Amino acid sequence: MADFVRVATVGELPDPGATVVEVDGDVIALFHVDGAFHALDDVCTHDGGPLASGELTGHKVACPRHGAKFDIRTGAALSMPAVRATRAHDVKVEDGGVWVRLRSGHGVDGPVAQAPVAKPAFGLPIAAPPAAVPASTAEAAAPSPPAAGALCEDSVRELLKQVKDPELFVNIVDLGLIYGVTLAPSAETPGKQQVSVDMTMTSPACPAGPQLIGDTKRALAAHPEVAGVEVRIVMEPPWTPDRMTDDARDQLGIF
Ligand code: FES
Repeated sequence: MADFVRVATVGELPDPGATVVEVDGDVIALFHVDGAFHALDDVCTHDGGPLASGELTGHKVACPRHGAKFDIRTGAALSMPAVRATRAHDVKVEDGGVWVRLRSGHGVDGPVAQAPVAKPAFGLPIAAPPAAVPASTAEAAAPSPPAAGALCEDSVRELLKQVKDPELFVNIVDLGLIYGVTLAPSAETPGKQQVSVDMTMTSPACPAGPQLIGDTKRALAAHPEVAGVEVRIVMEPPWTPDRMTDDARDQLGIF
């Protein structure tokens, strides 16, 4: 286990306040709130934002890049677009100084919660991944795609429910990511239609974007009346959690 490293003098950091310190080569966000010190990796698990520069509200810090909130005491991700904890470290006050000892293990690179659904006081909970299905039974256990009825906006949206956000495990329709669906007769393939989907992301730098676009195209291309699929990413208006359906809220444990 690493040793404690003295990183600051007590009194040097205002309360509330935050600063960046270096411990054994790692960049650490040091927080001072209600007389206690807390240390996290200075890395937002959404896309690397610097947490020490974020707005502090009580024991919550908001990433300055896209607003994900973290608990400074535990590193837990409390709201979108972050869904994984950042690593929290041990802190002690001794000999007039603040000391930090790095913890190994999960945090930035590991899962936060394995409970079915964690329910923080606000924001989105951290959903546990679905139970693994043995490869030999995966095909049999997979839900059947909807029957291919006549192609229309409703049937397109139904097909899109097969596409799930890889971090939240909720489909993109119920998450409110689909802003529009347009169908037009295909000029190249008479009798079939060209489908255009306007899709947003939970944040401009959503790392799941390429996967969601590919899965969307594959889900729609399987319909016999589809000649081609175009997915347009639109960021206006920005996605907000209130775009989710009640089904999505149920799945995420938001009440
Ligand atoms: S980098 Fe922190 S919320 Fe996006």
